[in-house]
Amino acid sequence: MRIILMGPPGAGKGTQAEFLTQALKIPHISTGDMFRKAVKEGTSLGLEAKRYMDSGKLVPDTVTVGIVKERLAEADCQNGFLLDGFPRTIPQADALENILQELGMNLDKVINLEVGREAILKRLTGRRVCKSCGAIYHMLYHPSSQGNKCELCSGEIYQREDDTEATVVNRLEVYERQTAPLVEYYEKKGLLLNILNTAGDEKVETITHNILKALGSGQK
Ligand code: AP5
Repeated sequence: MRIILMGPPGAGKGTQAEFLTQALKIPHISTGDMFRKAVKEGTSLGLEAKRYMDSGKLVPDTVTVGIVKERLAEADCQNGFLLDGFPRTIPQADALENILQELGMNLDKVINLEVGREAILKRLTGRRVCKSCGAIYHMLYHPSSQGNKCELCSGEIYQREDDTEATVVNRLEVYERQTAPLVEYYEKKGLLLNILNTAGDEKVETITHNILKALGSGQK
């Protein structure tokens, strides 16, 4: 299955991607994770991406499209993939269409996670992430049972640099301006699947169940 998972910052893309990719046995391709890895490794891509990420702006399309194109050509994407956080602009969506055409592939569905602004602000300012394995926690909704260590790998848990309130507000503005138009873009193509959680109070497991049911994957 070839899926895009979209939605505003903090909608739960990374959280859902973990469960969906396990259930559907497809690789998780997150441009945000790819950029954060490059930043951590201090590569030239990382240095360039950091300039944009720290202020909540989008990394230029040329850079982002290039890394996705390389990743989709890898062998593990032959039987499907889940794209998380890409595309984020209309030009990125057009570029993706060309890439998939070159690879002889089609998209199956675009899942749009809808969560209200108030819930998003609470989620992002309380989010914590494992420095080693990337596991996602929340100080109130999903704290680690190991305090500031990861439950899965004992790595250190930290707050992302772009999760401060000021940067989150910028990221939401960037989302509305540059990414939200993709909802209509994919609706017109008949690929959109809206998953509503406006108050943000649906459990993670309920959302996963609803998505798998809507995808008709046969999962209970
Ligand atoms: P990226 O890493 O993609 O960030 P994002 O889209 O802003 O999304 P987030 O990772 O913040 O949120 P999420 O939806 O994954 O939510 P999560 O599951 O963590 O991008 C970062 C930056 O990289 C961008 O700003 C940009 O600079 C650059 N970039 C990336 N892709 C790019 C592209 N294509 N083009 C250009 N630039 C790009 O959940 C959030 C919190 O909520 C967690 O604490 C979680 O525990 C909690 N939570 C989740 N679900 C629930 C629930 N149901 N109930 C209660 N709490 C929940």
